Amino acid sequence: MPDYLIGIDVGTTGTKAVLIDAAGKVAARATHEYPLHTPRPGWAEQDPADWWRATVAAIKEVVARSGVRPDEVRGLGLSGQQHGSTFLDRDGAVIREAILWCDQRTAAQCDWIHDTVGFEKVVEETLNPVLTGFQAPKIVWLRDNEPDKYEQLRMVLLPKDYVRYRLSGEFATEVSDAAGTSLLNVGRRDWSEVMLSGLGLTRDMVPKVYESPVASTSVCQTAAEETGLAAGLPIAGGGGDNACSAVGNGVIEEGIVQVSVGTSGTVFSPMNEPKLDPKLRVHTFCHAVPGQWHAMGVMLMAGGSLRWFRDELCGEEKAEADRRGVDPYEIIAEKAASAPVGSEGLIFLPYMAGERTPHADPNARGVFMGLGLRHRKAHMARAIMEGVCYGMRDSLEILKEMELPLSEIRNTGGGSRSAFWRQMQSDVFRAPLVAMAIDEGAAFGAALLGGVAGGVWPDVPAACAATVRTREPVRPNRKLSAVYNKYYPIYRGLYRSLKRHFARTAKVVEKTS
Ligand code: XUL
Repeated sequence: MPDYLIGIDVGTTGTKAVLIDAAGKVAARATHEYPLHTPRPGWAEQDPADWWRATVAAIKEVVARSGVRPDEVRGLGLSGQQHGSTFLDRDGAVIREAILWCDQRTAAQCDWIHDTVGFEKVVEETLNPVLTGFQAPKIVWLRDNEPDKYEQLRMVLLPKDYVRYRLSGEFATEVSDAAGTSLLNVGRRDWSEVMLSGLGLTRDMVPKVYESPVASTSVCQTAAEETGLAAGLPIAGGGGDNACSAVGNGVIEEGIVQVSVGTSGTVFSPMNEPKLDPKLRVHTFCHAVPGQWHAMGVMLMAGGSLRWFRDELCGEEKAEADRRGVDPYEIIAEKAASAPVGSEGLIFLPYMAGERTPHADPNARGVFMGLGLRHRKAHMARAIMEGVCYGMRDSLEILKEMELPLSEIRNTGGGSRSAFWRQMQSDVFRAPLVAMAIDEGAAFGAALLGGVAGGVWPDVPAACAATVRTREPVRPNRKLSAVYNKYYPIYRGLYRSLKRHFARTAKVVEKTS
């Protein structure tokens, strides 16, 4: 009987499921989307019921499309957007909308945690400062702002772990995602008593924590009836979306670095032991591979900036895409390619939802600098793409400062599907970029973890060896690299000049909206 695996990625724009065989061949894929709510400036929320609905629909679709029998599926792995807080009451019911990774409301709560636990102690335990998007400050925000809801709080789950709860009836998580809560002792890969008690939380309010490729629980009878999966199917710990996509791209050893442009943009470098950036600009989290950690730079709105541009300013391009039967991003990339390198001095800062790496500034916002009468929409499209590449280069520069090995960069995420944007990344980074033969993102890595949990492979390296293949690298164009290299220091300097203006503007927005 053939072995099949299912990977699920509970993302920011939708849930994706892939069904693969043991050679990594994709038998079916399906994505079901849901909205993101921004009830106030800087806020980002989603309804966990939407995640579940989309997951059920995506699972049913891949099973139906592939024609695979449920009893041929050996394991399931879960991946998801990191850091979100799903608040449950004593009956396991959702108390309010979940607060997401790109939400910026918790600056005061981050300060409170640093003051209460002690900044050094926080870093000693969690290997990171507490940042606004992370999970713990959202719990404190609930306490400070919605005390009646906080009273009801009995369990906090990350987004994919809420889906696990619906699939299995059990509360569980794993180290790679738990590392982004500010509640895990990242070095020991277990909950931190210091952080839990410092925040007035108890261990029974957080789920049991597993290693990523281990079977955490299994599909329960109720979920089996709802999804069509077999009851008892093992569910791997899984991982945060960045760690899962690293697994799916074979980024599981030091020196092989992943650059991903999705809604967020991340630079992910595996480490055999947890090393810190002395300035704490990149995160130090557990990898989904037991015994490994990773350093990660995070740009909050990479592809997210281009999506905003598409949705708010590209009605014409969408109509043209409809006429030609192509994706609107293709038309936008064609336009961008028609503008000259460097966009004739138009520079875009992609801080549309604040920024983590390298500034950790919830008040930062997007900026077009240098607009002139000659600039057209094409220049704006190109400037956005260039700004994202400069921001990703910031993270790569930090990894170099940390002296982490860098022998190969693997490129992934929606942004890697555009040949133009991929080439631009290579030019801005001044390094070859390796593309993946199968680029199904985090869901694929989650499926591999499901395969290890289901006994198809003994461990993650074996799963990667059986399924991951790379393509020829894209190489930098020297002439274009030289131009980008002249703009990059200007890009870097802009934030420094604007920092205090971002802070003042945020205060005015707060008072007047
Ligand atoms: C990583 C992060 C984002 C989300 C996107 O720290 O916040 O990359 O995981 O889903």
